[in-house]
Amino acid sequence: MKFPAYRPRRLRRTAALRSMVRENALSPADLIYPLFVEFGTGVRREVSSMPGVFNISLDQLPAEVDELKRLGIPAVILFGIPSVKDEAGSGAFAEDGIAQQAIRAIKAHAPEFTVITDVCMCEYTSHGHCGALDEHGCVMNDVTLEMLAQTAVSHAEAGADMVAPSDMMDGRVGAIRAALDAEGYAEVPIMAYSAKYASAYYGPFRDAADSAPAFGDRRGYQMDPANGEEALREVALDIAEGADIVMVKPALAYMDIIRRVKDEFGYPTAAYNVSGEYAMVKAAAARGWIDEKRVVLETLTGFKRAGADLILTYHAKDAAKWLKEGE
Ligand code: PBG
Ligand code: ZN
Repeated sequence: MKFPAYRPRRLRRTAALRSMVRENALSPADLIYPLFVEFGTGVRREVSSMPGVFNISLDQLPAEVDELKRLGIPAVILFGIPSVKDEAGSGAFAEDGIAQQAIRAIKAHAPEFTVITDVCMCEYTSHGHCGALDEHGCVMNDVTLEMLAQTAVSHAEAGADMVAPSDMMDGRVGAIRAALDAEGYAEVPIMAYSAKYASAYYGPFRDAADSAPAFGDRRGYQMDPANGEEALREVALDIAEGADIVMVKPALAYMDIIRRVKDEFGYPTAAYNVSGEYAMVKAAAARGWIDEKRVVLETLTGFKRAGADLILTYHAKDAAKWLKEGE
């Protein structure tokens, strides 16, 4: 008798055999592309710490959306960069705010294209925190809930297909759900940033959005990276409050959380492959230290294997191109 009887290499012999037994597949349809939009015209400014990612003005949106559609990417998540920030973050829910205008611009051009909006205060507040501050500089939870709910409703009014609260206040999914329902937007789903960690990987994003906190940090509201059980409690809360999709963020250092969330709840699960994860790959690739295409496709496929149904990633356009080439 020959050993071993089971020889896994038999099914690795040819590309055809490998593809027949492949367990997970990455598709452009799984990808959501983050877009940083600002006022003005003709703006297309590369983010210094995110090569290949641009802050763009409203007039650039139609061409941007056309490109994404051509690549088979079904959705964007919008981040508005206001021209002025104030203490109260009033630009977040202004009827003619940057996010609201961006939603309208995309919807006027491509009504069927899916627009998801990030709902948070930090891009709009002068202090850069994700909500309203008390006299000690601490973010007040329940006051902030009202601002978030108002922001989400203003996005729905402008035509957003989905809202994605990223603030990590307690009770925000319930507050947003109630406000949307009350205003006639019961059909607008919520993708909750449920397990969002206080991560050093958000650095480049804060360059793009100019949203680094002016003092302190976000550890009073975002999760402690050492915690896993707590992530499950956060997700359970968001689901109980009406979340339709739950998210784990960042993705790479939290693959175990993606898997646990998917196994425990079986909900549509999103992974946010964040700015710092993108920047590391771009920096190493620029030096010729890694094969960018293979590393990106391997990483994104890893998120699918870990249990993610959707992936928010700055690599979306490149990945979609590479997937098309490979067909
Ligand atoms: C806003 C928000 C952040 C990100 C998404 N929404 C930044 C933060 O919490 O500081 C990070 C995304 C990324 O790093 O790519 N709250
Ligand atoms: Zn925020």
